Amino acid sequence: MTNRSPIGVFDSGLGGLTVLAALRRAMPVQDFIYLGDNANAPYGSRTPDEVTTLTRVAVARLFALGCPLVLIACNTASAIALRDLQQRWLPTVAPQRRILGVFVPLIEALTGRGWREEPGEAPVREAVFFATPATVSSGAFTHEARRLAPDLTVIEQACPGLVDAIEDGEPPEPSVTQAVEAALKRGSPEAALLGCTHYPHAEAAFRATLPAGMPVLSQPDIVAESLARYLDRHPQFRGGTGWLDCLTTGDPAHVGARATALFGRSLPFERMDD
Ligand code: DGL
Repeated sequence: MTNRSPIGVFDSGLGGLTVLAALRRAMPVQDFIYLGDNANAPYGSRTPDEVTTLTRVAVARLFALGCPLVLIACNTASAIALRDLQQRWLPTVAPQRRILGVFVPLIEALTGRGWREEPGEAPVREAVFFATPATVSSGAFTHEARRLAPDLTVIEQACPGLVDAIEDGEPPEPSVTQAVEAALKRGSPEAALLGCTHYPHAEAAFRATLPAGMPVLSQPDIVAESLARYLDRHPQFRGGTGWLDCLTTGDPAHVGARATALFGRSLPFERMDD
């Protein structure tokens, strides 16, 4: 495994598999290692220090497995830990490697502007961003989105319990209905963003509850297209034959069974040892 150079994909649990599936559709011959930190999930109700430490440990594990590039396919970790890891940790431990998150592609899609473009107007004036309580408390999405679209209003709406419901195979409707009703009382959004990689599993419930016709941005496809463009610009991170290894810090039998149930096809997991 260590003589390959797969891209690492990390999430607190099973949510990042929605992104992984889109990545593999967009880049079928790229090698990937997926790591779910199921032993410590959910991150969405953890403190910022805990999320940062757990994310750093997970990324270091993926680096140790030979990944030159790690995608943090978790909005909570992207919101809380990514900038710190990119700016303070990576330059001292592995300056030639890269860590990417899932916020920037979503913000580019929402604002219609490239990350390095001058700030300006977005196609919508107001958007609702559904995410975990920890992501919403960080305020990071609004902060980053306003770098590109200073006049954009973002209603950040927490969906407590939704990640647990998805991981446990329970119906998402109660959490989704509560969150959508709360958000619509706070403003008049013209677009919705599902800012948690678990939430595509509840997308039908969001669409059924949001006003008819409201665009709902699909983060996995947006992230996959963005990473494919990144690899075009940085071909040194590309490579492989389409090989995939799925690792978990939790119980592989249980995690594999839940992943198979969520995706409708067999997805075996191995234990990530310390
Ligand atoms: N899937 C993660 C995200 O995108 C969070 C899930 C969790 O709370 O652990 O935010």
